[in-house]
Amino acid sequence: MRLLLLAGCAVLTIAIAGCSHPYSVEKATSARNDSETADPGDRDSAHDDSAAAHHDHSAHSEHPHADHAAPPPAAHHEPASHPVSPATDSADADHQDSDSLTPLQIFKKRITPILQAKNPSSCSECHLSGVDLKEYIGPDQETTFASLRAAGLIDMENPDASKLLKFIDRRPKQPNLITDKIRREELAAFRAWIRAAVQDPKLATAQTADANLGPQIPDEVIRHARKDRVLASFIDNVWSEVGRCAACHSPDRNQKQVKEHGEQVSWIKLRDPQATLDYMLEAGIINPDDPLESMLLTKPTMQVEHGGGQKIVVGDRTYKQFRRFIEDYAAVVNGVYETVEALPPESSEVSQVSEIWLKFTDVPARFDKMLLRVDLYRWNRESKSWSPDHWATADRLIAGDRRLWQQVLTITAPRDSERAGHIRREPRLPPGVYLAKVYIDQTEKLQKQYPAELADEDFIGQVEIDSRWQPGYGRMVVAKFP
Ligand code: HEC
Ligand code: HEC
Repeated sequence: MRLLLLAGCAVLTIAIAGCSHPYSVEKATSARNDSETADPGDRDSAHDDSAAAHHDHSAHSEHPHADHAAPPPAAHHEPASHPVSPATDSADADHQDSDSLTPLQIFKKRITPILQAKNPSSCSECHLSGVDLKEYIGPDQETTFASLRAAGLIDMENPDASKLLKFIDRRPKQPNLITDKIRREELAAFRAWIRAAVQDPKLATAQTADANLGPQIPDEVIRHARKDRVLASFIDNVWSEVGRCAACHSPDRNQKQVKEHGEQVSWIKLRDPQATLDYMLEAGIINPDDPLESMLLTKPTMQVEHGGGQKIVVGDRTYKQFRRFIEDYAAVVNGVYETVEALPPESSEVSQVSEIWLKFTDVPARFDKMLLRVDLYRWNRESKSWSPDHWATADRLIAGDRRLWQQVLTITAPRDSERAGHIRREPRLPPGVYLAKVYIDQTEKLQKQYPAELADEDFIGQVEIDSRWQPGYGRMVVAKFP
């Protein structure tokens, strides 16, 4: 798993928010900005301070705080670009006043309002569910402090190094501007309060019976709902297959389709799986409210009309992968998972569609329109045996009228194997002899019993194929049906 995640991050560094852990530069910069804009001579009244805080929260609810929101008006963004004015941007301005306020005043003016904010906290930019800053705020100051301290989130010696502040200060490489503003406010508020609170002898000895602030779900569930993990799963399950749709849906190849059908056919965003996922959500191609109605499933299976015809069938390999991602995504964003057991098990192999074609001729006509799956096992000359796991697979309906079956191969490897790292970059099959094992679904069990698999009872026969396995429709590998 680790290997795959790293591979995903390396290929897509720019696109993936959660892969970066920008503690260093950004953190130093934002800390410096705070002290630069602070004017020690200026002590606004408490009245101004609270008015500013209040105004600011209504401002949040006016702007939907969503990952996919359009960029906000520039004026809301850069606090340094205009004189600090409490009426328009309080984040850094009211930070200056902290020194003159008691911890309780700061808690009430700046921490409690976070609880009432309608929008999710800045955490949501990387955690699609399971984590919200609100969960770290208790019913009162004492409980909050004692509980955060007990959880190791407050550093009494060096308050600015408190773990909670580090959580808040995690920024994606390309943060959403609205979220980034919320983040600065959250950080300034908690920093001001923690700085003041650690010096308050009463708080320092505060006890709590209810030391249970923070997320109430296991770390593994939090991890599963992280945006970078979700993207890795998208790459695993969907991006690895879109090569099959590229001829009509990738902007570098589909001019004719665009002319005839419009821009919306270009749903693949070149070399950018995160942008592709974002677009699919925006366009309803993936629909977390009604997963099975997602066009990613209904179009290529012809459950609804599709300009490209039937590309996959319910229950086949690609369908399973698409559905697996969509259902998991829906469960993540809807906060369905509460226990580790509820998480879907990780598939034991990785795969990537290639451009190598395999054709079987002389397929008996009685198998017309049944799904045929082939698995390829590689011959090992040293051990004089077939590989224990398959190196490639493919499935598709049989064209009985023409007595043939053909499909591009999907290259596969066990998730933890060395091979797994390679196939993402270059889905190839080394030249040589492979054993092709053929299975046919004669009872439509794949369609009727999702997520059924073809097994021994569906085995039809096997044939050895020796080839250089070159990519390209014109270089199709042809074998006789066993
Ligand atoms: C820039 C992306 C990003 C943001 C924003 C972010 N986190 Fe995280 N969070 C991560 C990553 C990455 C990890 C995994 C950290 C690790 O393994 O070291 C993580 C892990 C966690 C964990 C689990 C602890 C663990 O060790 O796995 C908690 C709890 C958490 N974050 C809370 C928060 C809270 C609360 C916020 C908002 C105040 C937040 N995070 C904002 C990226 C982010
Ligand atoms: C031979 C060309 C072709 C291939 C290959 C193809 N499609 Fe399509 N697809 C189209 C055309 C044309 C349209 C536009 C007309 C329509 O909506 O049916 C379309 C529309 C779609 C849409 C609706 C997009 C929108 O926002 O309206 C989805 C989703 C889709 N296809 C999914 C797929 C998937 C998934 C694959 C690969 C497994 C695929 N298609 C392969 C031709 C193709």
